[in-house]
Amino acid sequence: MNPLLQVSQITKSFIERELETRVLNGVNFSLQPGELVALLGPSGSGKSTLLSIVGLLLSPTAGSMRLLGDEVAQLNESQRSAYRSRHLGFVFQAHHLLPDFTARENVAFPAAAPRNRMTGAMHRRAAQLLDQVGLSERIDFRSTALSGGQKQRVAVARALMNKPQLVLADEPTGNLDRETGFQVMDLMKQINRAEGTTFLISTHDTQIAERCDYRIHLLDGRIDRVD
Ligand SMILES: Nc1ncnc2c1ncn2[C@@H]1O[C@H](COP(=O)(O)OP(=O)(O)OP(=O)(O)O)[C@@H](O)[C@H]1O
Ligand SMILES: [Mg+2]
Repeated sequence: MNPLLQVSQITKSFIERELETRVLNGVNFSLQPGELVALLGPSGSGKSTLLSIVGLLLSPTAGSMRLLGDEVAQLNESQRSAYRSRHLGFVFQAHHLLPDFTARENVAFPAAAPRNRMTGAMHRRAAQLLDQVGLSERIDFRSTALSGGQKQRVAVARALMNKPQLVLADEPTGNLDRETGFQVMDLMKQINRAEGTTFLISTHDTQIAERCDYRIHLLDGRIDRVD
């Protein structure tokens, strides 16, 4: 099977106050379609940086990256943006929901924003996704009227709106209590198993990581081990 994602010799350096810091130093790994994978590593090891590079939010300093068979490391900004909205979904530690929007409007946003309008089909898909994440009774609640765990479920539904092949989640349970965190993790796993959506999830929580198919450990800018 062709990998969904192949990351080869990715490096990333930041220059801050004339000091160059190499955060990623030759990262290699691949993801097969349908995998649910945890990304682990100490604080500062480069998990968020790597997720941003894979998510085409940040350019690597060097290296190549094949996503769905396309070489994507050198795309220009508008190509990256189109690629993101077509193929990728994002869940962050903070939910980043729009406060004046309802749950349904937030979920539909990734489809509606580029076209500047919300169609009936978008409303229906958003409602269906909210049903899937167990929030059918709160479709028309404003996001500020939801609990932290409910907001993160909305964020997961939003990440799925454009039917991405790959969802990148950066500490998606980091702001939740343990039990709610496990529920959000189990929800992502359920979607992974039912739809075959590939997930790469960074976390500090070993119990969250254990629920994934396998774990990639980052250390000192490289992959230390996979288990
Ligand atoms: N925009 C930036 N400019 C300069 N340095 C940066 C920038 N972004 C990240 N870094 C540095 O890169 C390193 C890795 O940061 P990153 O956020 O990827 O780590 P992380 O593994 O996600 O950590 P955490 O577990 O705390 O979220 C840190 O030393 C950080 O200071
Ligand atoms: Mg981080």
